[in-house]
Amino acid sequence: MATASEIAAVGVIGAGQMGSGIAQLAAAGGCAVLLLDADPTALSRAVISISASLRRLAAKGQLSQAACEDSIKRIRCVSAVQDLRDADLVIEAVVENEAVKKKLFVELDKVTKPSAILASNTSSISITRLASATKRPSQVIGMHFFNPPPVMKLIEIIRGADTSDEVFAAVRSFSERLGKSVICSQDYPGFIVNRILMPMINEAFWALYTGVATKEDIDAGMKLGTNHPMGPLQLADFIGLDVCLSVLRVLHSGLGDSKYSPCPLLVQYVDAGRLGKKRGVGVYSYGHRPSSVRP
Ligand code: NAI
Repeated sequence: MATASEIAAVGVIGAGQMGSGIAQLAAAGGCAVLLLDADPTALSRAVISISASLRRLAAKGQLSQAACEDSIKRIRCVSAVQDLRDADLVIEAVVENEAVKKKLFVELDKVTKPSAILASNTSSISITRLASATKRPSQVIGMHFFNPPPVMKLIEIIRGADTSDEVFAAVRSFSERLGKSVICSQDYPGFIVNRILMPMINEAFWALYTGVATKEDIDAGMKLGTNHPMGPLQLADFIGLDVCLSVLRVLHSGLGDSKYSPCPLLVQYVDAGRLGKKRGVGVYSYGHRPSSVRP
């Protein structure tokens, strides 16, 4: 099993909002990065946004020009899980769907080297269940980054029922090597942050749905009244309404309490393809709106 200092090659699966940020962080941290996505356009979009983001940091003097270009060169896009065979650590950041993630963990277990650590960036899905899809449950762990990963300081590490102390220590040191602070959660629905955040976001949708106030006033209330940097509805748009809905469903089914039942308005937005900022429209509109999205 690789120790933190031996983690030299990192596989990242999913090149969306989170995967692209995680790839950028790992590359800037000196790792060779293998970035995989089922959608080739997601990969090309990710390379463009990672390069632009690193060059912005260089322009601001937060990274040398050489370090910026070296980091970009360290990222290689790949098209098959087999291409991750040399990775010391794989971080999965695909869609929040247990069946999709489990299938990937089964494949990863077959193709990666026996010492590789397999991590998931899931917002809520049980690490223990993902680990049980593999023959190496002691080397499976949750590594929950926050959006956007290069900016947000926290990584929430989730220990599955069988995650070993060595793997936990290696992932904690690796996270610190990336400049992050770490908190540790046991493997229960929503872990720490989403267990507390998602009911608040859901309540904001209920307030909007039942006509308590406008979206602007709900967000301004929480920003100015509780000193949050952004309101819960805007934050939901940034996270992705599909991700919020998936997490609430995991909380609802995993904890069996109707207080986690997703607000019908959130469900309707997701059904309509209003997924938030990444789709140009969610609770708010963001300029571009793909034609596949209904008004
Ligand atoms: P996203 O929708 O932006 O990106 C997901 C990517 O995964 C897409 O590019 C898609 O093509 C790819 N993908 C789907 N199935 C695949 C497969 N079988 N193999 C390879 N690629 C596949 O989603 P986002 O927001 O990046 O979320 C990804 C994960 O990160 C989810 O588990 C989510 O819960 C978690 N997360 C999301 C946060 C957020 O604020 N959006 C924060 C922390 C965790």
